[in-house]
Amino acid sequence: MENSIRNTVLTWYANICRLLLAVVFVFSGFVKANDPTGFQYKLHDYATAFGLTAWVSESLLLAAAIGMAALEFALGIYLLLGFNRRFASGMSVLLMLFMTPLTLYLALENPVSDCGCFGDAVVLTNWQTFWKNVVLLLAAISVFCLRGRIVRWISRHSEWMVSVYMLLYICIFSYYTLKHLPVFDFRPYHIGADIRAGMEMPEGALPPLYETIFVMERDGEQKEFGIEDYPDESWTLVERKTILKRAGYEPPIHDFSLMSMQDGEDLTERVLADSSYTFLLVAYDLNKADDGYTDLVNEVYDYCRAHQYQFLALTASGEDEVEQWLDRTGGEYLFCGVDETTLKTVVRSNPGMLLLKEGVVVNKWANADIPDEYQLVASLDELPLAKVQVHSVMSKIFTCLLWFLVPLSLILMLDRIWNFSGRKNKHDYINPLKNKKVEMRKNIVAGNWKMNKTLQEGIALAKELNEALAADKPNCDVVICTPFIHLASVTPLVDSAVIGVGAENCADKVSGAYTGEVSAEMVASTGAQYVILGHSERRAYYGETVEILEEKVKLALANNLKPIFCIGAVLEEREANKQNEVVAAQLASVFSLSAEDFGKIVLAYEPVWAIGTGKTATPEQAQEIHAYIRSLVAEKYGQEVADNTSILYGGSCKPSNAKELFANPDVDGGLIGGAALKVADFKGIIDAFK
Ligand code: PGA
Repeated sequence: MENSIRNTVLTWYANICRLLLAVVFVFSGFVKANDPTGFQYKLHDYATAFGLTAWVSESLLLAAAIGMAALEFALGIYLLLGFNRRFASGMSVLLMLFMTPLTLYLALENPVSDCGCFGDAVVLTNWQTFWKNVVLLLAAISVFCLRGRIVRWISRHSEWMVSVYMLLYICIFSYYTLKHLPVFDFRPYHIGADIRAGMEMPEGALPPLYETIFVMERDGEQKEFGIEDYPDESWTLVERKTILKRAGYEPPIHDFSLMSMQDGEDLTERVLADSSYTFLLVAYDLNKADDGYTDLVNEVYDYCRAHQYQFLALTASGEDEVEQWLDRTGGEYLFCGVDETTLKTVVRSNPGMLLLKEGVVVNKWANADIPDEYQLVASLDELPLAKVQVHSVMSKIFTCLLWFLVPLSLILMLDRIWNFSGRKNKHDYINPLKNKKVEMRKNIVAGNWKMNKTLQEGIALAKELNEALAADKPNCDVVICTPFIHLASVTPLVDSAVIGVGAENCADKVSGAYTGEVSAEMVASTGAQYVILGHSERRAYYGETVEILEEKVKLALANNLKPIFCIGAVLEEREANKQNEVVAAQLASVFSLSAEDFGKIVLAYEPVWAIGTGKTATPEQAQEIHAYIRSLVAEKYGQEVADNTSILYGGSCKPSNAKELFANPDVDGGLIGGAALKVADFKGIIDAFK
């Protein structure tokens, strides 16, 4: 009881942590890919704060920004869909182990004011970021430790396609936003934004108050002064510090001011109040600006002159750079000096272009998208490009989701069609990424004849089954486990590619004076490939203990027999809610095996109260305990081995209930007693996989 509650709680906890991490990573990877330039600027801030600017180039920072977006997005998708669990959870721990102390340092020292984890979509203070990272670190460690409990939402052979497609998606999305501006513009200069409204202070709000402190020195003595008590010349200035005296309201736009570089005139109001249109060419640094599209810029300038619209260029570069730019590009427009950070915020492209009317951002273009003469064919009032077109965030999210889900579903569907068309079967699926065969666990229907049928009857039954399956190929592996005396006769009778043959027991001794016993080697010498071990009837009537069974399993494996190892609780144990403990204890016989040997066995869960009684476990009961058994295997041998272990259900399985039982994700077939004695019934159960 306690065990099963603990088990359920741990599984829930692991999956809640996994979903939390997945959502955060997908979101933060996506918002970074939405604005790689923005994250590149942020990385530049970090490099400056840590004195690394000499070591890193702009292109390296951009590559790091895109790489980080792709890594986070990939980890998020792995965790969301529950595959590559070891890699995803391990990488999450490493990432958070790096980020958490880093953000603690940022919170304490404040060298960069906003961490940039979520781009401009969600801006957190450094302390908020630190605590967020503490939570994520704990979640990542929990997911890593409990990764075996993470529920998988896609099949194993779809993994590589999802991996390739998600990386393509996030890289193409990054490239798209880099070339055409972010799809989601979270900054105060987005299309439709009223710049003047963004500059307003709400009534009664106070601006933040800063104070400048001067650290001065005289005769080896250092002292701090304010602006009011600034000392005489006998003191020399050591350092100037600006400290926030009172936090206040800072409007989203607080540094948009346009100073003409020709005569120093402030053109801000003239531009913002203009009832006609103004084009703004924005290039924060002319030396770094791409001059590949300057013909387009000049065309827009000519168009403005012809239609009497204002055209201004904004830069933070100096006069020399402006002159060189105009010489190089043949531009004739007026430049205004504007703060660099402001310009980087206005438009991510360098250069980029804005169209304003009455202070409202009507349209915005990246370098490559600046409208050309074929678009600028009439006055702006008549052109759609001069109408504010704001697409809602929801519709953009929907479009991005569709671009992710529709092609991916199509690829997966095509793969399914390819698979089911018989060109590949699920047992030998090749993952091209890892160039390795993906071992899929097998669906198996195994018959257990028990102490039934004379030799002649057994031969007739095997022949009949062989013919039925030759005529109608099964969609799963089929095994018949017969009494010892049938083995040598039945094995050569059946098509070994379709039907495997096995014994119902074998001795726990190698050979010698054990009257009445049959060794694993003797079973194997008949051509049989399987052996049932640990059946509840053998445990109950012949006193087979965990230790005896451990010996039998080892001998079977040593003789290349595949054990079908049975576990299950009796009615009293189930009623006392002890079935989980019972199966966990029974598994001890096989949990001493190496992972490689364990990979060779098949498990069969058989609730003893259901064997031969006509009472079947409900599909839900079967799924619950099968999933539990698989989680025990995962804990012991790792998820991959657990995923590859076939777990059969046994106990009054019939054609009428087989389909429903086998439909459960963790039920991989059945061990059939009574119904295996009639071909029609056994075949009916085999056909549940059709
Ligand atoms: P049953 O037996 O199908 O007759 O219930 C199953 C078994 O004991 O393997």
